[in-house]
Amino acid sequence: MPSISDNSPDPKVPRHIAIIMDGNGRWAIRRGLPRLAGHRAGTENLRRIIEACVEFGIHYLTIYAFSTENWGRPPEEVSGLMRILEDVIDRELNELHKEGVQLRHIGRLERLAPHLQEKVLHAIELTKHNDRLVLNVAFNYGGRDEIVLAIQRMIRDGVAAEDVTDELVSRYLFTAGVPDPDLIIRTSGELRISNFLIWQAAYSEWYITPTYWPDFGKDELKKALDAYAQRERRYGKVSIED
Ligand code: IPE
Ligand code: IPE
Ligand code: MG
Repeated sequence: MPSISDNSPDPKVPRHIAIIMDGNGRWAIRRGLPRLAGHRAGTENLRRIIEACVEFGIHYLTIYAFSTENWGRPPEEVSGLMRILEDVIDRELNELHKEGVQLRHIGRLERLAPHLQEKVLHAIELTKHNDRLVLNVAFNYGGRDEIVLAIQRMIRDGVAAEDVTDELVSRYLFTAGVPDPDLIIRTSGELRISNFLIWQAAYSEWYITPTYWPDFGKDELKKALDAYAQRERRYGKVSIED
């Protein structure tokens, strides 16, 4: 099993996959269930996808779990999503730790209840030396918020205008030290970025599927990886065939 320090990655396999886990609500409504049942089903699926990523040799997985805009949902849904995060940590942390998953958080923790913040920090601390898969959980995350925060911190640090570079900005983001996502998957068919990794996605490949997140299993992930392997990433240059 390759580890994160593996320095001869296969260019056909994405090193970093990011997923906009969308469609939980519609999955539930279609079954006549409350939206929160869809979110619970979504977390069940997450466990399968994490296992599959470990198996496929992915080094970094970033998942969009709660956006800065999701606070605008009905209060029962927001509090339900908070409870689900807490339950997932309680239920899955030991297993994830055993599997060698390193948990990280991107976004702002401050707005979460203090006991939930503690749970997240404990999970990060416990797993910080694991190196099979880095799992970045985007929770209370917004791409614009991340950039605003980076600018504020650069100004506070007294960074001179001429020292502001691509690399420096990247180092001030929540994702500092993490390579940009090679592949971004969005489930449920929406064709938009919804404030996710707007800086880091500059040259990411996209895979969009109509499948709702709770139904996006290992086979679909494999399809996304196969599609990725066919892509030619040109980064604004010309094709090597030309
Ligand atoms: C994605 O599913 C999960 C979160 C945003 C928390 P949605 O809840 O957005 O599901 P749809 O888009 O309404 O179906
Ligand atoms: C994006 O999905 C956020 C997450 C998956 C956490 P949304 O359902 O919130 O996005 P929009 O509102 O359809 O753009
Ligand atoms: Mg949605």
